[in-house]
Amino acid sequence: MIDIEVVESRLADLRKNLESIYLGKTSRSREMFLKASRYFPGGVTYAIRFMHPYPIYIEKALGTKVWDVDGNEYTDFWMGHGAHILGHAPEVVVDAISEVIKKGTHLGYENRYAVEYAEFLTKIVPGLEMIRFTNSGTEANMYALRLARAYTKRKYVLKIEGGWHGGYDALHTAVTPPYIGPESAGLPEEYTSLTLSVPFNNVEALENILKKFSVATIVVEPVLGAGGCIEPDDGYLKELRRLSYEYGALLIFDEVITGFRLSLGGAQEYFGVKADIVVFGKAIGGGFPGAGAFGGRSEVMELLDHLKYLEPRKRPFHGGTFVGNPVNMVAGYSLIKYLYEHRYLYEKANSLWSIFKNDVEKICQEYRIPCSCTGVGTILCIHFTKIRPRNAREAQEYRWSRTIEKVFHLYARVNNILYLPEYQVHLLPSLIHTVDDSKQFLKIFDSFLHMLLKKS
Ligand SMILES: Cc1ncc(COP(=O)(O)O)c(C=O)c1O
Repeated sequence: MIDIEVVESRLADLRKNLESIYLGKTSRSREMFLKASRYFPGGVTYAIRFMHPYPIYIEKALGTKVWDVDGNEYTDFWMGHGAHILGHAPEVVVDAISEVIKKGTHLGYENRYAVEYAEFLTKIVPGLEMIRFTNSGTEANMYALRLARAYTKRKYVLKIEGGWHGGYDALHTAVTPPYIGPESAGLPEEYTSLTLSVPFNNVEALENILKKFSVATIVVEPVLGAGGCIEPDDGYLKELRRLSYEYGALLIFDEVITGFRLSLGGAQEYFGVKADIVVFGKAIGGGFPGAGAFGGRSEVMELLDHLKYLEPRKRPFHGGTFVGNPVNMVAGYSLIKYLYEHRYLYEKANSLWSIFKNDVEKICQEYRIPCSCTGVGTILCIHFTKIRPRNAREAQEYRWSRTIEKVFHLYARVNNILYLPEYQVHLLPSLIHTVDDSKQFLKIFDSFLHMLLKKS
């Protein structure tokens, strides 16, 4: 077994050495950060993009690679927060956009691009009869929740601990330990008081809540994402489906990460379980900003119909200036249509990253360290935990090092591998990442552990 104190002290030394290499390789990024700190709180556009001692500033991205302002090339495992499932700037998307953009970037009227995309999506996503587009995954969850509450005429919402659905008030709770109360300053407790939570992969806890409260909807990421990329136990999602029917709650699958990624029909198709409402984001916009949607059975979606429910207060609101804009619609459609025509990519990628998961664990065994690689397909996380975590709580509680994730992140960076966040080895390779990309990561992972655990 490893001696944790020895490892922590080696990590501290390693961090110092790596920081000086990092400074040498990324001086322009450093300058950029100093400037950015004057204009952005914390020097960044989004806190999750920060890295110690300062972030890398990316100038260009293509395929599986990104280049920084100092000219360094990296293999990217973050892929635009997981939006780029076909790599950065796929030609098929860029070409389609270049054409449509000449005819207007945002029409502000109904347009054929949205209709054509919606029709296509209903053909490939199980149970999707009607859809509405949004500007983000956060928004899509917000509107989906309102719809579920309006449909069931109930107020409680049940989410999963560690589940990340964006910063919308009612879902901005139970994301990080201790998994109670608002996750943000400026968010009064009352705003999250109708949101209940249970650990992932725990059917008993979920049923107990359903027995006690009149729950409008169970909101779940079919594969836990930010909470540690954790796969559902066999039969877990089917149990959620059964219980939600039994207790009259709608089942919402937040497929912002899993959608179009695990399979063309997302997690519903992959696991063979149908939700009542499916929420999309990221890839649905083809890599262009402003991506999101929610949809499901007509019987539920029709509640949004202003022609049927004339009185605005009698229907859940949905809308937004940019929803259904042609850039997003054409980008998304061209991306997803390409995947529809190249379905073999799913089998290839899912098998490549399943082998990768085993290889990570083999390396850990060779160095005799407790660690595991969780996830499904191209959604992966390496956990330095004493046991293999089955939920977000375990992923946190069983960590055996305070610093290893951050030092590994720095090591990966100076060795030309990028992902985010720096405190979690959370990997979202695209469907076009290659065997070489996976080997590059494994080599770096192996050499890191070698450096850390070699006998002194
Ligand atoms: C599962 C899930 N839902 C919702 C969101 C929020 O999406 P957005 O950042 O587009 O608002 C995210 C973002 O990472 C996500 O991972």
